[in-house]
Amino acid sequence: MFQTLKRLAGKKGSPEGTGDNPSAPSSPDELVNIRSYRRPDRRAILEIAREAFSGVSLDENIEQAFGAVGGHWTEHKKDAVDYDLQNNPSLALVAELGDEIAGFACNRIYPARSTGHIANVAVEERYRRRKIGRWLVEGSMELLRQKGMKYVRIETLEQNERGRNFYPALGFEEIGRQIFYFKRL
Ligand SMILES: CC(C)(COP(=O)(O)OP(=O)(O)OC[C@H]1O[C@@H](n2cnc3c(N)ncnc32)[C@H](O)[C@@H]1OP(=O)(O)O)[C@@H](O)C(=O)NCCC(=O)NCCS
Repeated sequence: MFQTLKRLAGKKGSPEGTGDNPSAPSSPDELVNIRSYRRPDRRAILEIAREAFSGVSLDENIEQAFGAVGGHWTEHKKDAVDYDLQNNPSLALVAELGDEIAGFACNRIYPARSTGHIANVAVEERYRRRKIGRWLVEGSMELLRQKGMKYVRIETLEQNERGRNFYPALGFEEIGRQIFYFKRL
């Protein structure tokens, strides 16, 4: 089981400038519990998954170009997160404030390559820019180390400006770029 307590950081950056954090709580005194996922967290995580990825999801890009493909794109994102919760529950972390889930990270491991994979991380919009994302990634890396991993990978879309800043700020090095294609059959 993983757990670490953090004090919620003061707001960083301007909400107007980033689109983040429009109604963040003002008190910096709250404690954030970064802890292992438990089954009752699932509903709150899937709700964040549905809402957090607008503008930064391949499924949304596909829907914009081709129309809805087998349901709304937010459902595909939710299903992808749910897959990891079902298949790798012991590798998922949540950020809990009081009785509220403010964010999550879903992780995978590839033991043959000693490599962990942070598959999805998201923080509810009103809690962004207060270091919760950083703590979820740092917590994930600690958890992956505990599982014997020596490396960690993560991807973000070029259009994801937050992601492009977020991962280098956490020490990740860019190792390649990929182009995604899609076609009607
Ligand atoms: C990416 C995300 C998880 C970051 O969570 P967060 O709690 O706001 O991030 P933090 O406050 O810990 O920020 C850590 C660092 O990331 C960078 N960063 C985060 N958000 C940023 C933004 N909007 N603009 C520029 N840099 C940003 C900064 O370097 C920041 O450090 P700083 O605040 O000291 O400057 C959050 O924006 C999110 O949920 N986005 C939508 C889902 C998503 O894109 N997930 C990643 C998919 S690959």
